[in-house]
Amino acid sequence: MRVLVAYYTQTGNTRKIAQAIHSELESLGHEVTLREIRGVKSQDVSGFDVIFLGSPCHSADLAKPVRNLLEAMESSPGGKLAGFVTHSTYTAEGGERHRELHERWAGKCAGSFEQACAAKGLEWSGCFSCQGKPSKPIELFIRVAVIKDAHEWPGYIAETRKHPNADDEAKARAFAREVVALGDTYPISPR
Ligand SMILES: Cc1cc2nc3c(=O)[nH]c(=O)nc-3n(C[C@H](O)[C@H](O)[C@H](O)COP(=O)(O)O)c2cc1C
Repeated sequence: MRVLVAYYTQTGNTRKIAQAIHSELESLGHEVTLREIRGVKSQDVSGFDVIFLGSPCHSADLAKPVRNLLEAMESSPGGKLAGFVTHSTYTAEGGERHRELHERWAGKCAGSFEQACAAKGLEWSGCFSCQGKPSKPIELFIRVAVIKDAHEWPGYIAETRKHPNADDEAKARAFAREVVALGDTYPISPR
């Protein structure tokens, strides 16, 4: 399969996941192009069987350069699109409070990818997401606006600073395998 792994990053977290997806799919024998989104034009994303598009979560949604690329993409360029996201608030696992904060601060990202797929006639293949270490200014913002409880903060930030970790990368690799394996089950020339 011809696969594009394109991503936006400011501090390297999303790049780590992009590299894990890229190396996993290369090891399976796919023809994989890895590109940072800066300089990627809408016409560069056509002609692939699968596009993996990665974004940090910014202000509870996909980062602007990723939204811009999705908007600029031609309708029905063919193929499938899978998303991957890194974010600094909690994952949806870990109880009601974590789920609520995740929904509020990072839950919109997958839906934005899915909506773009519907608008552009792309097949939606799902989204992988994991935590990513925040930059210092974002740490301060989260401390003031999201995790306000002084008792909760040390545990939260110590854990978040470790991501993406080897387990996140392994999960991203598994996600990538699933996405391309699903594609393999479709006939190349349906009759
Ligand atoms: C401007 C800005 C806004 C952010 N907003 C959110 C947010 O709403 N929710 C969240 O979970 N993380 C937020 N973050 C944290 C990033 O999503 C997280 O650190 C991500 O892993 C950064 O990825 P990168 O290293 O690839 O740039 C924000 C970061 C920045 C710089």
